[in-house]
Amino acid sequence: MRTFEIAVIEGDGIGVDVTREAIKVLEAAGGVDEAAFSWNYFPWGTDYYFEHGRMAAEDYLDQLAPHDALLLGAVGHPEVQDHITLNGLLLPIRRRFDQAICLRPAFLYEGVPSPLRDKPAESIDMLVFRENTEGEYANIGGRLYQHSDHDVAVQTSVFTRRGCERIIRAAFEKAMTRPRKRVASITKSNAQGYGMVLWDETFAEVAAEYPSIETESLLIDRAAMEFVRRPESFDVVVASNLFGDILTDLAAIVVGSMGLAASANIAIERQNLSMFEPVHGSAPDIAGQGIANPLAAILSAAMMLEHLELPRAAASVHAAVKMLLAEGELLPPDLGGTARTEVVGDRVAALVVGR
Ligand code: NAD
Ligand code: IPM
Ligand code: MN
Repeated sequence: MRTFEIAVIEGDGIGVDVTREAIKVLEAAGGVDEAAFSWNYFPWGTDYYFEHGRMAAEDYLDQLAPHDALLLGAVGHPEVQDHITLNGLLLPIRRRFDQAICLRPAFLYEGVPSPLRDKPAESIDMLVFRENTEGEYANIGGRLYQHSDHDVAVQTSVFTRRGCERIIRAAFEKAMTRPRKRVASITKSNAQGYGMVLWDETFAEVAAEYPSIETESLLIDRAAMEFVRRPESFDVVVASNLFGDILTDLAAIVVGSMGLAASANIAIERQNLSMFEPVHGSAPDIAGQGIANPLAAILSAAMMLEHLELPRAAASVHAAVKMLLAEGELLPPDLGGTARTEVVGDRVAALVVGR
């Protein structure tokens, strides 16, 4: 029996509900691969902020560091500005542990209709590689003449050759393992002639090393249009931090719902902490109602199982989710059903162990 120490930050809003279901499913799936988990819960988030004036303990990154993985629900509260909540908890985790690779699949499951017309089940199957530590999220800048008519804000993007190369290379390596062997790169190098041009140059250099991969480069505005017009044509997609963020909400709805969109923040150094969280946020519009779809968190947990090299456990979760969606009897409201969050989690956990 292998045991893993998992840090858990449920966070805010629906993050709490969906993480509970993910853990329920992981408890069931561990046995499939003779693995057990010990859960280390950290009470960080906006409630902690209301009590302590900060989002997490001062040494929170050090406290997280020794774990085998981190499961996170979501962070964000309507009464606190998002740049405070996110820069106080989530975003420093990605940077500190150099989680440069944000992996976000979008797959059209049987039983889940796309809002786009006539898209058959399984016809859309893309995997977005989002750069996760620099770019537009570098958080460098400043304010001048604040609170005056001359207020000026500078927000700097940072693109490094190393940063571009490692995400682009990871995308190509993954594409080599997928049947369609395509990589699309998304930039805005027509308007942003420094960072985005460095990205394009790096993409061309790395692409030359993978002659069997078919590539395309799209500008972000065009890419948004093509995600709607021909989503089935995309296989691996690689994009900067901000563009990857935007495109993965778009990809999520193209395959049916934010409630299905999983995400893994993978540390470049294997011994560093990786984090698994859904693409979605704390969804204040439905928080506290027990109706959030937990499948995005559950599928993110399956990505954690893969990362921990528990492939049979991961496969059992994927199969259970597929079955639940195909059965169509216990769907949450975002997928057109009436099943509550915990009922969906219970059913997936039962299917994992073959009940
Ligand atoms: P959101 O993803 O929370 O919600 C967008 C829409 O999708 C809402 O209508 C919501 O009800 C729906 N939705 C999202 N997840 C769902 C689920 N599992 N089941 C059913 N419906 C679901 O995005 P937002 O409204 O822009 O952001 C809300 C807060 O979350 C903000 O404070 C934002 O900063 C934060 N946020 C945090 C994270 C994170 O912690 N990783 C990610 C995104 C947004
Ligand atoms: C995501 C979220 C975060 C991001 C926010 C909450 C900072 O939208 O994980 O997609 O933009 O990375
Ligand atoms: Mn996002």
